[in-house]
Amino acid sequence: MHYIESGAGTPLVLLHAFPVDARMWNPLRSRLEEQARVITPDQRGLGESSLDGTTARGMIEPAAAPLTVDRPSVDVAAADVLELLDQLELPRVVLGGCSMGGYVAMALLRAAPQRVAGVLLVDTKAPADTDEQRTNRLNVASRAEQEGTGSWLAENMVPNLLGSATREKRPEVVGDLRALIEAQPADGVAWAQRAMAARPDSLETLRAFDGPAMVAVGAEDTITPPAAAREMADALPRGELVELAGSGHLPSLEAPDALADAVRPWLAGIDV
Ligand code: MLT
Repeated sequence: MHYIESGAGTPLVLLHAFPVDARMWNPLRSRLEEQARVITPDQRGLGESSLDGTTARGMIEPAAAPLTVDRPSVDVAAADVLELLDQLELPRVVLGGCSMGGYVAMALLRAAPQRVAGVLLVDTKAPADTDEQRTNRLNVASRAEQEGTGSWLAENMVPNLLGSATREKRPEVVGDLRALIEAQPADGVAWAQRAMAARPDSLETLRAFDGPAMVAVGAEDTITPPAAAREMADALPRGELVELAGSGHLPSLEAPDALADAVRPWLAGIDV
């Protein structure tokens, strides 16, 4: 699994949203790295992680090692993260995830809560998909496989991912996000959509986690809106809710100062 790492201090693993990769965390990383060892993996099939979950893309000889792809599942994505923690010899970390990364973080909490010293859920939600959402995801997965991930995916998603303040006033953020989306391999996009479509409800998982928990949400998020964040914060026994003004679904890109200001004191109180 490919990952980016920087900083020193509390081990903080941040899982990225769909359909981007670990680079979405760079603005937050640079604001936290004096306090935290920030580790940001690319989920399998996205960024530089291969779809078979073993190596970085391009490092495997197809003839020598035929591709075997695990069934799309957030549990598989969580198992990849656990394998990375083992490889880095990290028994416990603070675990964060944005949107899809939050779904994977909740899957990891279900599988191995003892590895999680605290959880940071950013613009994500606990419920499983409705039938309509599932159908949409499966359609996007098929379209990605048939057409690749040209500009259509970014065109469909950018208006929903970013808040209106960002779209209207920060063209450089819009451009960076488009480039990140267009860089994602079609097979990884399809796998991620099918994995999200199959995920279960996670409210009980949150109710069972009694460690420190921060739930952050962009006030302008329409994909996983503040009400979804409130539901998670209420379910978590030690949940704290932070609403970020002027941000949509991706506050690491849209409001990194406000997100870092909220995370720093919370992180300082966690004993890993
Ligand atoms: C994401 O940002 O990861 C996705 O929009 C989440 C989703 O499609 O549910």
